[in-house]
Amino acid sequence: MCGIVGAIQRNGGVVETLLQGLRLLEYRGYDSAGVAVLEAGAIKIRRKAGRLERLEQVLSDGSLDNARAGIGHTRWATHGPPSDENAHPHTDQEGRVALVHNGVVENWAELRAELEAAGVRFASDTDTEVLAHLVGREMARGQDLASAVRASLARVRGYYAIAAVAQGEQGVRIVCARSGPPLAVAAGPDGVYLASDVLALIAHTRDVIFLEDGDVAELELGHAPIVTRIDGTRVDRPTRRVEWDPEQAGKGSFPHFMLKEIHEQPDVLARTAFDRLRLDKGDVDFGVPGFTDHELRAVDRLQIVACGTALHAGWIARYLIEGLARLPVDVDYASEFRYRDPVLAHNTLALAISQSGETADTLAALRLAKTLGARTAAICNVVGSTLVREAQATILTHAGPEIGVASTKAFVAQVVAAFLFAVRLGRARGVLSLERGRELVSELRLLRPKMESLLGERAVSEVRAIAQKNQGQKGFLFLGRGINYPIALEGALKLKEISYVHAEGYPAGEMKHGPIALIEPAMSILVVNSAGPLAEKVRSNLEQVRARGGHVIAIGSDKESIAQSDEHVLVPECSEWLSPILNVIPLQLVAYHMADLKGFDIDKPRNLAKSVTVE
Ligand code: AGP
Repeated sequence: MCGIVGAIQRNGGVVETLLQGLRLLEYRGYDSAGVAVLEAGAIKIRRKAGRLERLEQVLSDGSLDNARAGIGHTRWATHGPPSDENAHPHTDQEGRVALVHNGVVENWAELRAELEAAGVRFASDTDTEVLAHLVGREMARGQDLASAVRASLARVRGYYAIAAVAQGEQGVRIVCARSGPPLAVAAGPDGVYLASDVLALIAHTRDVIFLEDGDVAELELGHAPIVTRIDGTRVDRPTRRVEWDPEQAGKGSFPHFMLKEIHEQPDVLARTAFDRLRLDKGDVDFGVPGFTDHELRAVDRLQIVACGTALHAGWIARYLIEGLARLPVDVDYASEFRYRDPVLAHNTLALAISQSGETADTLAALRLAKTLGARTAAICNVVGSTLVREAQATILTHAGPEIGVASTKAFVAQVVAAFLFAVRLGRARGVLSLERGRELVSELRLLRPKMESLLGERAVSEVRAIAQKNQGQKGFLFLGRGINYPIALEGALKLKEISYVHAEGYPAGEMKHGPIALIEPAMSILVVNSAGPLAEKVRSNLEQVRARGGHVIAIGSDKESIAQSDEHVLVPECSEWLSPILNVIPLQLVAYHMADLKGFDIDKPRNLAKSVTVE
């Protein structure tokens, strides 16, 4: 997903501010980068394909260091290959306006044809350049930058977050707008700022305005941001305080964000759960509207929509909620749900799970559920995100900023939130007793040291040895049953995402229906098995694999599985309902160390973006 930053600073030095912001957004994945600054009233552009370092090199001549206003962009190519010419910012023909864009202009071809028929010559293959020419043409007709942007966006179909600067404007202004991908603006002591992610703002101020879809904002030094709609009507948007600490966004002593975030998971459990537990009542209190007994008793069915890792948390939520609250739960890929013309039962609560709160498919699925009459709720990690603002009730996870593209701590936070929700639902519906509620709440409290034990030197070196021994394998199967079946899916996704090896997650009971044909010594089979009612079933699946020469790695607390396997990671015992939170940690570490041994870019894996805000 592209990254956008912008700033107007009292004392100049805007280039370094833009670069700092872009560095913080690198984790989102990109293939080129660029900046446009106003230098003595004229627009100056520098842009390069490849990593940010290449742009920094071009800017190191210092020729733009005094500039006070500018915009910056990291591009994740949608139209046109990564190249210097296709990198943003883009300008109109006269170089009057420079513009950066995240999203897709769906009607770019017809707009481009119209502009070319009027004599405009294009310099790139991008849809974004169409926007730059539209705005330039409106300014040539006498409109100021803000009006020109509004008039141009009125002609656009698609989704966008954009920022633009123009030369020759009375006073220096940046205009930005969003419909779909996120954008936030802020006024700090040293200037005014915009960014597609709060991470790039909190170094300047914690008081942030999150734009809504259809908003256009004008930034000018010494003034609060002015927000209007596309039609020009003024709107007031609240300023929200962002509590994240900038150093949380740093790597600290870890070589990669992903490893730091794996090790943060015990803290994430505490931050997401501990102040919501009510041991005396054997219950949970989210402290926000939408989760009272009365409201939850009105729910007859739950429909979960999510993508990727968040969907795996959704699958676990189904086991938890059906198991502890006896509420029927459906789980759907958001990208499937939104197009399958779904039928929802009466009194359905639609629950979207998302780390970023900006995933296009998840947002669209939740909006569809709402039109079908469902109440909406969210489990989300970003306070100002679109999902949090659109859902009628939200359980915020407190994982802090997750920079590694491969989600780890946010996943654990989502599973913890789902556990809390299952307890709350069970107590509200009267199917979970006070005693049982107290047991579950206590179990959650006891989990943290068990997580820590899986992150200690010994456990990590065990996992590193497994990664070392299996890195040449032809492929990987991950097997699990019950609440640990989604952990098999998650383990496979982690390995795929960052080690680029073929891996599949499967319900262990499905082996005999086809996948067992894959078993051979060159295949490694990771079997997730926790002590509990299903352990014996999984053991026999493990035996079936070994009998065919497969290389078995057992992960979990079931000691007999450990004894039967070629390699293993023994996981501390805990309530089966909480076992996914422990079992996932060795799998995250196996994927991490496999990728590290291969020397791959762990935090920014090829082809991936941190948040997929386009379809
Ligand atoms: C997980 O490791 C991936 N990065 C990806 O599957 C991710 O979980 C998915 O895109 C959903 O993102 P979200 O949680 O921000 O909605």
